[in-house]
Amino acid sequence: MKGRFLRGPLPLALQLTLAFTLLVAAAFGGGGAFLTQGLQERQLAVRTDEVLAKAREAAALVGQTQSGREGPGLSQALFTYQQQKGVRPIVIGSDGVVVGDSWLPSPFLSRRLELPEVQAALAGQESAGLRRIAPDGLVLYAAVPLRAGANAAGAVLVSASLRDLDQQFAVLKGQMVWVMAGAGLLSLLLGWGLARTLARPLERLAAATTELARGDLGVRVDPGGSLETAALGHRFNRMAEELALVEQQRRNFIGAASHELRTPVASIRSLGEAIISDDSADLAIYREYVGDILTECDQAAHLVDRMLELTRLEGRIRPQPGVEEPLELVGLITAVVKGLRPLAHSRGVDLAIAASDPVWIAGESWLVETIVDNLVENATKYTPPGGAVWVEVARQGAEARVTVSDTGPGIAPEHLPHLFERFYRADKSRARATGGVGLGLSIAAEAAVQLGGRIMVDSTPGKGSRFTLVVPAAAP
Ligand SMILES: Nc1ncnc2c1ncn2[C@@H]1O[C@H](COP(=O)(O)OP(=O)(O)OP(=O)(O)O)[C@@H](O)[C@H]1O
Ligand SMILES: [Mg+2]
Repeated sequence: MKGRFLRGPLPLALQLTLAFTLLVAAAFGGGGAFLTQGLQERQLAVRTDEVLAKAREAAALVGQTQSGREGPGLSQALFTYQQQKGVRPIVIGSDGVVVGDSWLPSPFLSRRLELPEVQAALAGQESAGLRRIAPDGLVLYAAVPLRAGANAAGAVLVSASLRDLDQQFAVLKGQMVWVMAGAGLLSLLLGWGLARTLARPLERLAAATTELARGDLGVRVDPGGSLETAALGHRFNRMAEELALVEQQRRNFIGAASHELRTPVASIRSLGEAIISDDSADLAIYREYVGDILTECDQAAHLVDRMLELTRLEGRIRPQPGVEEPLELVGLITAVVKGLRPLAHSRGVDLAIAASDPVWIAGESWLVETIVDNLVENATKYTPPGGAVWVEVARQGAEARVTVSDTGPGIAPEHLPHLFERFYRADKSRARATGGVGLGLSIAAEAAVQLGGRIMVDSTPGKGSRFTLVVPAAAP
């Protein structure tokens, strides 16, 4: 269990709490140590100055007594000085041997004192140093040279106990530890609270994602927490809404497609039954029935082709803008129109294209071909014989425009908003008679989107219609 916990990634709340606590501990620890150290150094410096001053005082005193030599007068003076000032002066001769001590009997008298402070003082330099001595604790030594006028040479060493300071430092350290422990505990609690507040929206989001993955497209999260988690929550909700919409569209499409397929299948079935139940053995009638069956088959095949085309277009991954080759529209569309002219003529409709300067866009040619093919196909299909269809290509500012106009029956205004919906036909009975399944304009619209553009329509019933493809123009 423990192994598993340590191997995987740690929970966010735990990571944040640890980081927070460490930070607070480091800040308090570092800051506290720095302050305590500074305070100690400051106090020691003050104390050192004081003791050095006393050493100087003692040296002056020694200078006044009988020339600083060993004797009861010197020892008495040193003893009195210790009584008054609370420090222990020791007098050292120029040869380094102790000649006087305030404590009697003195263990140092007539012995050499090998302290570095004494050596420095004998060399004419004031000096002070700290020592930790077993029963006394912290002791400060200060040594000053004896004035040359009063004595050939020599030094006075003064020692003072710093036990009071030492105790103060210990108390301060103890207090620091308590303050740090308190701060650590407080930061642990605060950090945990804060981390939980941060982690909770993420946990909710994770749970909602699991629900969504299981297929519950109605799941939504409460976008709370910080600015970022709230934004994440909002985006999750939007994504879930879009997924639900796509799912709804998919269902609608399958429903409509099945419905559309059912019509030709039912017709084929009833035509087959009619053939079986007809005893007349009239070949001409059979031929007529089979001809109708073939027409229905064509209709079904056309529907399947259209659906495949739409699926292929929608599944296409759009390339990043700027990576596509420039495409010249006038030459391309002229070729497409030329190819469609025989069909138009067979329907008794005139098909023309107006010449213009080259117009460039960025995109794949088959998308443009699909659009023009569908628009021209519709125009020639719905325009009665004797009518005309004409295509224009032009650049207008930053846009390339391709218009397909006709002198057909036009489209009633109530149909215009739905024209690009799947399986939508303005005039169902006539569309079915012409073999239309109502997918051509959806395909064209999708292709236009893939080119970064759109298709617009305006129409006057009784006079004709005009479809306009608008695509961002590009440099050649
Ligand atoms: N130029 C036009 N003039 C009059 N009506 C049109 C014209 N173009 C489209 N329509 C109407 O818009 C409807 C939708 O057109 P769309 O091309 O999507 O489908 P369709 O032509 O019926 O079938 P298909 O999928 O075979 O193209 C048509 O059924 C028709 O009613
Ligand atoms: Mg069509």
